[in-house]
This record gives sequence, C-alpha cells and structure tokens, in this order.
Amino acid sequence: MVTSRIAATGAGIPDQIITNDDLAKIMDTSDEWIRQRTGIGERHISGGEDLSYYTSKAAKQIIERAGIAPADIELIVVATVTADYCTPSAACMVQKEIGAVNAVAFDVTAACSGFLYGVSVADKFIRCGIYKNALVIGGEILSKIVDWKDRSTCVLFGDGAAGVLLERSESAGGILVEELGSKGEDYEVLTARRLAPANVFNKLEPQKECGHVTMDGRAVFKFATKKIVSGVEHVLETAGLSAEDITYFVPHQANARIVEVAAKKLKIPQERFYVNIEHYGNTSAASIPIALNEMNEKGLLHKGDKLILCGFGGGLTWGTLLVQW
Ligand code: UT7
Repeated sequence: MVTSRIAATGAGIPDQIITNDDLAKIMDTSDEWIRQRTGIGERHISGGEDLSYYTSKAAKQIIERAGIAPADIELIVVATVTADYCTPSAACMVQKEIGAVNAVAFDVTAACSGFLYGVSVADKFIRCGIYKNALVIGGEILSKIVDWKDRSTCVLFGDGAAGVLLERSESAGGILVEELGSKGEDYEVLTARRLAPANVFNKLEPQKECGHVTMDGRAVFKFATKKIVSGVEHVLETAGLSAEDITYFVPHQANARIVEVAAKKLKIPQERFYVNIEHYGNTSAASIPIALNEMNEKGLLHKGDKLILCGFGGGLTWGTLLVQW
C-alpha cells in the first residue's frame, strides 16, 4: 500500500521576542491577564521581514535535513492567510527561493487548520501516485493583520513558519486517518482582511471593509474544545485505537485553556498534549508544524510513534490527523 510519511521537519521563526510585559508598556494589558486567560508568555514578531522570508527559511532547513535536492521536490503547498501577495502564491515564492524548479506550487487557505488541510491535499497527490514527495509549510505573519489597538486580539498572535517533507512510502505508517470539516455558516465568528468590492462602476452601497482580525473569542473557544474532542474520538474509533496507543496529541496552539478543557473531556492526561504556546502565542497555520519541529528537535519522536494532530480555526474549519512517525 502506498502512504505518505513525514521525512523531515524544519522551521523559520523570527528572532524578535515580544513578552507580555513589552505589550503592557504599549496597551492596557498585563502579563497576569494574558498568562491566566491563554497560557501565552511571549511571541515571536517579525522585525519587518514578510512571510516569504520565514517560509523559505523553513523550507531550506527541511530540505537540508531530508538530504533532498531542490530540483527533486515535486509539490510545494503553503498554508497561510498572510501571504506577501494575493498573487503570486506563498508557495511559488518558496519555489523561487529554494530553486525547486520542477515543483508544482500553490497555497491552501483554511486559517489555523491550514497545515492539516495542506498535508491532507499533499497526501492525496502522493497516494494517487502523481508525486513522490511534497513540501508542506504552514506560515503566518499575523502581526501585519492584527489590530494593534485591540488588546482582546493582538496579544494572542505571533509570527513564524514551519513544515514537513512528505515522502511516498510503501511500508505501513505515515498519514493513517484524517477527519476534516468546515462550517461556513459560522464564518463571521472569525474573520480577517475583508476587502470590499470598490470600482468606478459600483452600483451598490459601499460595503464594510476591515483590514484586521475580528473574533468572537468565546464562540471560538467553545467550537475549538468541541472539535478537538470529536476529532480525536473520531480518528481513534476509525483506526480501532485507544488514547493509550497515542504517544502525543499535538493540538493547534490557540489557548492553553482550550487544551485543558478538551483533555479533561477526553479523560486524557494533559501531559500527553504537547503545548508550547507560552513561547509562540497563536501562529495559526504555523502552530502545529512549529510544535512538531520542536518535538523532533528535542528527540521526542521515535519511529512507530502514533501522533494525533488537531486544528481548528476561521472558516470555520477543523481537522484531525492520525500520523505514524
Ligand atoms: O486560532 C483560533 C482563533 N482563536 C482562538 O482560538 C481564541 C479562542 N478564545 C479565547 O482564547 C478566549 O476567548 C480569549 C483569550 C480570546 C478571551 O478570553 P475570555 O476569558 O473569553 O475573556 P473575555 O473576552 O470575555 O474578556 C474578559 C475581560 C473583559 O473585560 P470586562 O468586560 O470583563 O471588564 C475584556 O475587556 O478581559 C478584558 N480583556 C483584557 N484585559 C487585559 C480582554 N483582553 C484583555 C487584555 N488584557 N489583553
């Protein structure tokens, strides 16, 4: 049977660290509020570089670790809502930077679930025999779309990029089970960068435009805990496994309290959920690959380990993948 397995990980993270205390100097907030409500202590914020700088940095690290020549990369998928341009795609910019001249490159947009959607798409191309490998990167420069005057959102987010090389494999393992979902009817709960139609021939009343992230935090919180629980239960049942068979649960890092509530509902000890939000904040599509790369660098992942990756976010969208390392 053909599957796709994760062959390497890598990341590109801004060096600049902004602590909660740094934010408290420029807005009415405090380290205590942010830590208690979210678990965030600091975040990495771009010093001016755009997304392509960090996605390319991640890509270079991944291909170096995988020992693959750029010309041998067949597919590049970048998950993001903050690409440098509407066109070209973030993936085409990575292609240029790394010299992956033979790859097909495009972006997917599913907000914080984006990396999982990207892996799912790449996995299908590999399983169908169309491509032998795929670079899948999740990256965001959220600092360019948050409203720095809105303390209820700007303190939550951070910048960064990370990803994996997926490779065709004929042995058991790799991406085992997935569950993706979308609920467009609730799209207004979490939006960013509304570009209203505007041209010299407009016949309608001008529409509302909003350049920033807007969010009903409580609604997203409830949705997120529900989707982590149902996603984990679904993939475990589909695979005929129990929570004890899973080495680590790797959730999207939006709020440490979301993970606490979900872990409690699932009756899984919280230590089995990998949480690094304290140092990154919410990096949307980048959060799961940043966590995976960090776990890999710490030597926490061993061949055969089963992981459950779960994400949720704007759209609304969600996804859960069962992966064998
Ligand atoms: O990646 C997916 C996208 N996002 C998420 O997953 C976020 C999910 N939601 C959450 O994480 C939480 O709902 C938040 C962290 C966003 C907010 O936590 P909350 O416990 O729901 O707080 P709240 O919005 O109800 O605000 C409570 C109070 C308010 O004051 P009053 O009205 O009670 O006087 C806010 O004005 O906290 C105030 N507040 C702040 N205070 C200090 C809001 N933001 C801040 C802040 N610093 N940064």
